[in-house]
Amino acid sequence: MSSARKKITVVGAGQVGSTVAQLAAYKNLGDVVIIDIVEGVPQGKALDLQESSCLQVFDSLVTGTNDYKDTANSDIVVITAGLPRKPGMSREDLLATNAKIVQSVTENIMEHSRDPIIIVVSNPLDAMVYMAKKTGNLPKNKIIGMAGVLDSARLRTFVSLELGCSLVDVDAMVLGGHGDSMVPLPRYTSVSGISITELMTTEQIDRVVERTRKGGAEIVSLLKTGSAFYAPGASVVKMIEAILQDKRRILPCTAYLEGEYGWSGIFFGVPVMMGIHGIEKVIELKMTEEEKAALDKSAEDVKKTCDEIDAILAGSNDKE
Ligand code: APR
Repeated sequence: MSSARKKITVVGAGQVGSTVAQLAAYKNLGDVVIIDIVEGVPQGKALDLQESSCLQVFDSLVTGTNDYKDTANSDIVVITAGLPRKPGMSREDLLATNAKIVQSVTENIMEHSRDPIIIVVSNPLDAMVYMAKKTGNLPKNKIIGMAGVLDSARLRTFVSLELGCSLVDVDAMVLGGHGDSMVPLPRYTSVSGISITELMTTEQIDRVVERTRKGGAEIVSLLKTGSAFYAPGASVVKMIEAILQDKRRILPCTAYLEGEYGWSGIFFGVPVMMGIHGIEKVIELKMTEEEKAALDKSAEDVKKTCDEIDAILAGSNDKE
């Protein structure tokens, strides 16, 4: 039975994928398909989630599958598939392994959906979203990485904890790559319109900025196995909501740059307007020299990982 509801496919039925599926269903954003390579897990999680629909009161149909045919005509696809880093595995090893996964996932998705908007979550994020764009030959408004919403949520949390003020009033902007060189911007981080540069000491600002940069690692070190999933899942769903409800929200997202901020041909965390077409536009902020230098440093790091993806793609073309 076909439905007029939007179709959201979540690739990867792990921690992040199942959180995205749960929140998207609870918010009635559309029908949800969960797909994974492991047999039974997406089906089991989907059935469990569907059985909560009468309790949480949502109409979304939730299905689990191992067959990409069931993802046909998706409006939004969230890619969370990938392996976490294992002991002894270098970042490059992880990049190569997850790049192959994201490549095959994107090929399968594009075979069955004509015009999806793809949100990539798999790490290393900036490289994985680049791989998805290259593989799917996607227009730049329809391929987005989730990083800035999460990193900014972390900064907002730490500012509100530091000041002991309501989180509702805190806004924050974190740009750049989704790694150690990300660029939290205190000047553009505010509480009810007041920049934190007015409200906090340099020491306090340094503390929240540093904790934000290491936000992912802090969770990993506490969990011991696995990485964060509640806040990443909620960040993805905020992006899905902005798109499907054409909210035209201004969110920091990983977008493909063509000259903005002085960079081209890389994915980079920048403020964008998000609406029904995905990225409606990239917003260019005025930077101080210090901020621009930090962004350039981060962009150089990201460029290296994109070059690694180009090398992987050149290698797979050679084999064909
Ligand atoms: N196709 C579909 N699913 C796959 C594939 C594939 N080729 N390869 C792996 N998966 C699935 C795994 O079976 C697993 O269910 O991806 C899922 C990943 O789930 P978790 O290991 O729980 O990882 P999670 O915490 O969800 O993180 C997923 O998001 O934040 C990033 O760094 C994180 O890259 C990681 C991703």
